Amino acid sequence: MSHVLAAVAWPYANGPRHIGHVSGFGVPSDVFSRYMRMAGHDVLMVSGTDEHGTPIQVQADKEGVTPRELADRYNRVIVEDLHGLGLSYDLFTRTTTGNHYAVVQELFEGLHRNGYIVPKVTMGAISPSTGRTLPDRYIEGTCPICGYDSARGDQCDNCGNQLDPIDLINPRSKINGETPQFVETEHFFLDLPAFAQALGKWLDSREGWRPNVLRFSKNLLDDLQPRAITRDLEWGVPIPLEGWRDRADKRIYVWFDAVIGYLSASIEWARRSGDPEAWRRWWAADGEGEEARGYYFMGKDNIVFHSVIWPALLLGYSGEGDRGGEPGDLGRLNLPTEVVSSEFLTMEGRKFSSSRQVVIYVRDFLDRYDADALRYFIAVAGPESQDTDFTWAEFLRRNNDELVAGWGNLVNRSVSMAAKNFGAIPPAAELTAEDRALLETAQKAFPHVGGLIEKHRQKQAITEAMRVVGEANKYLSDQAPWKMKDDRERMGTVLHVALQAVSDCNTLLTPFLPHSAQKVHELLGGTGVHAPMPSIVQVEDLDGGPSYPILTGDYSAGARWESAPIEAGRTLAPPKPVFRKLDPSIVEEELARLDPGK
Ligand code: MF3
Ligand code: ZN
Repeated sequence: MSHVLAAVAWPYANGPRHIGHVSGFGVPSDVFSRYMRMAGHDVLMVSGTDEHGTPIQVQADKEGVTPRELADRYNRVIVEDLHGLGLSYDLFTRTTTGNHYAVVQELFEGLHRNGYIVPKVTMGAISPSTGRTLPDRYIEGTCPICGYDSARGDQCDNCGNQLDPIDLINPRSKINGETPQFVETEHFFLDLPAFAQALGKWLDSREGWRPNVLRFSKNLLDDLQPRAITRDLEWGVPIPLEGWRDRADKRIYVWFDAVIGYLSASIEWARRSGDPEAWRRWWAADGEGEEARGYYFMGKDNIVFHSVIWPALLLGYSGEGDRGGEPGDLGRLNLPTEVVSSEFLTMEGRKFSSSRQVVIYVRDFLDRYDADALRYFIAVAGPESQDTDFTWAEFLRRNNDELVAGWGNLVNRSVSMAAKNFGAIPPAAELTAEDRALLETAQKAFPHVGGLIEKHRQKQAITEAMRVVGEANKYLSDQAPWKMKDDRERMGTVLHVALQAVSDCNTLLTPFLPHSAQKVHELLGGTGVHAPMPSIVQVEDLDGGPSYPILTGDYSAGARWESAPIEAGRTLAPPKPVFRKLDPSIVEEELARLDPGK
């Protein structure tokens, strides 16, 4: 048994999340965590909503509410979405808690003490008419690199380069069109070049990463510049230094605070568990957490923050960059074991876009379809290592031809035949070579499928599990127990073997399809928890702030990753179908809901 941290990217609380988001960070991290728990590891799965920064401020301004009100609203929506998908977070919290503020400030102070955070005077934009600062993203102009005429102040969406707003040609405010004025403003910078060596050494020692993620991460080290980690903004974590703490116009940069969420959420989880030091088992590089592994799940636009910025913060706090230093009160902290990044999902051949209605939100999806149908699609056809397209026609086909006609049919016909003819799981008499072959195929799948999930090859893993389902279906068709009315002993043996295969396939599919796995477990006469589910709990802020909903759960019960022998004699009832066959008309219906200007 070992300690495994599943660190899941924090969704922005600036709107409901669509299925593209959850295919990147959500479902893969849950499949991994569920499997690792079943295999006996001590998993801590944490995340929360990312609630600071310009995107939230922009959206709040647009809706005429405060950033806090906006964040409250979408935090709740997102918690419900993730709950609906059955994502088994130990803690899903938010970045506006007292605990998070304290941990972010502790890291900032530690990095500052060790000399890795330095002040610098830069040119910042203000609105000449109001005198208020204009955040980078509120400024638009022509890209100095590629000439694109609506580049944003922080980044050009055409050539992808990071920009400085003062370099834009013809800069203008997105709020009122006026030309911003550039004035001197002081900010804090993270001295990234001081980590180049340590980051290089760390990346060189990584094994098993997806090759494109590792290559991309290593390339980032070629051009490390000091990076501003504070902003002219009112919404965010205050800067914890003398003379800055009480300034209303300066805040810590949202990405600096968000990545620290992995640590702060682990600490919050520990504080809530009654053992406030328990987080160290996943984090303390000296002692308790030494052997722990940490896996970070996200979409590819997040890589730089997880394979450069976050490790740099951890190194600097631990006193391990070029400037040396001493670890802060939290001690030396573990760097990520692996950055598990997925590619992008598109929707009917186009980029997801809420404004252009090329989108399906999680909650709308779950209103009309089952969570496991979506989880199945994401696992078998998601953007694991290349960009992939979601189409309703393919969703329909995968659901009807594979989930319903393959797995659902196997469950249904084996359980109903046994229920009808025996009313219980029949005992097995002597086994034939075919019986033994099927049982062995199912048993051998455990190390194989498990190994694939552990290596983040979930597509191959579920395909392998479904291959065993195919073998079992073929076995039933070949053996044709329905023709054995005058040899009840043999009929019972075949059904016993088939039900054992169903039970094994169900365990193999549990990390992917937890809701239906619980149902199949019960169809087989099982009781108790097979696949534990998260719950939403309204909690008090630990440090006196307003209360909020979290996702949490007790995942200690549940199936183990092994073939569990079925018990002859257990009562079986005629089954209700576990999966819903979808009518082909849903394709037209759903397409009609998308942007009609297609
Ligand atoms: N909110 C970011 C996004 O949706 C992800 C933040 S991941 C974190 O792209 F760890 F940095 F929080
Ligand atoms: Zn450009």
